[in-house]
Amino acid sequence: MRVSVIGCGHLGAPHAAAMAELGHEVIGVELDPDKCRALSAGTAPFYEADFEELLVRHTSSGRLRFTTDLAEAASFADLHFIAVGTPLREDGRGYDVSQVIGAVRSLVPLLHRPATIVGKSTVTVGTVARIQEVIDAGAQVPGVDLVWNPEFLREGYAVQDSLFPDRIVAGLTSPRARAAIEEVYAQILDRGVALILTDPPTAEVIKSAANAFLTTKISFINAMAEVCEFVGADVNTVAHAIGLDKRIGPGGMRPGIGYGGGCLPKDVAAFTHRVGELGAQHAHGLLAAVESVNAGRPLAAVELIEKAHGGPISGRVALLGAAFKAGTSDVRDSPALRLAVRLAERGAVPVIYDPEALAAARALHPEFTYADTAEQAVSGAELVVLATEWPELTADPKLPEDAAGLVRRRVLVDVRNAVEPGPWLAAGWEVWQLGRKPQRP
Ligand SMILES: NC(=O)c1ccc[n+]([C@@H]2O[C@H](COP(=O)([O-])OP(=O)(O)OC[C@H]3O[C@@H](n4cnc5c(N)ncnc54)[C@H](O)[C@@H]3O)[C@@H](O)[C@H]2O)c1
Repeated sequence: MRVSVIGCGHLGAPHAAAMAELGHEVIGVELDPDKCRALSAGTAPFYEADFEELLVRHTSSGRLRFTTDLAEAASFADLHFIAVGTPLREDGRGYDVSQVIGAVRSLVPLLHRPATIVGKSTVTVGTVARIQEVIDAGAQVPGVDLVWNPEFLREGYAVQDSLFPDRIVAGLTSPRARAAIEEVYAQILDRGVALILTDPPTAEVIKSAANAFLTTKISFINAMAEVCEFVGADVNTVAHAIGLDKRIGPGGMRPGIGYGGGCLPKDVAAFTHRVGELGAQHAHGLLAAVESVNAGRPLAAVELIEKAHGGPISGRVALLGAAFKAGTSDVRDSPALRLAVRLAERGAVPVIYDPEALAAARALHPEFTYADTAEQAVSGAELVVLATEWPELTADPKLPEDAAGLVRRRVLVDVRNAVEPGPWLAAGWEVWQLGRKPQRP
């Protein structure tokens, strides 16, 4: 099939590459000329596992190309994915959906034959109806269909999740739109992946509900970490034990400094606001509590760091990790950087290292000090804080030994509860984790 992907950021670019991998001819439309040039040259503008390899393969094969020209995409493709951004509005009360509305409004008059517009961006419940009005008002030909096809990919696994999703959700109203979805995802559906065909409002709610549930799970276990601290219990054991109950499940329950990134915080904030507007009081109360727990996590982490140090820190703190989670260079709403801000407010000097996100962190927070290696960050620091769960940091067998001679006190505060303490204890470190008793060598 000939498809376009409009908006080639963290979601759209890997999606475009994945569509080429599925055998489609793909054109990506990206407004930002630098990003468009990089993608065309086979260079990923951000780190995402397996993405650059796929990008090179398909820009070289000719199955994938990028343009800034929407008209080129309109005449080339029969199905158009919309993957533009939906940031939080400046007042924090819901999404700014102007990129989505703007992209559809520009695309529709350029369509001169029947086509399917497939929205993947995350939008407020009720937005699809507004987009349908834009299509109805601007379409030059009959047969321009709209499908809402929310995306559930996890950053860090964008390529894998695009090619091997848990399910595909499509909110649509016509048999023609259904046929288009079944064709574009045929290879995935042939493997038995569930296709949830529903109406557009249900598709919108499915996406919001999925993120609401994920964040509820994260805030729940973080609230349990708080309880464990009061009673001297161990939250990692609690998470493991309750996760063995099939009704609960183990996924998404690692205690830590909370959720972040370009999606979950804004999605929950927007959904909380929307359910409040709708008057769904219980949903509002639940989601507000989830957000409140999350907002408190950086402070909980700072308190743990100060406890481990024996008081506020005025010297350097090695902060290992800046990305909002491992596997990505994305620092949008990163809890690691929120923690850095808190530490700096209290007089410490965070020295930040990240294997992939240094450039993005520097651009967002030029005021901080950055190090090119973990050892450089640790050198002369009062203690070490593990802030992003990169395997090369949490499971590097050499780091505990190498860092031991560089740091002022051998104290590791792991605010992701991701480190296996054994090698650190063996190298003479104290290991502090959220919701657990400190472990000493
Ligand atoms: N990042 C994720 O993991 C993820 C997962 C699920 C859903 N989503 C949703 O997908 C959407 C995109 O998120 P993202 O993280 O990729 O955002 P992003 O900011 O990384 O990318 C959006 C891109 O769209 C481009 N753009 C904006 N208007 C355009 C236009 N008219 N034509 C062409 N390009 C245009 C921007 O330049 C930018 O590169 C959001 O609604 C987000 O909530 C993202």
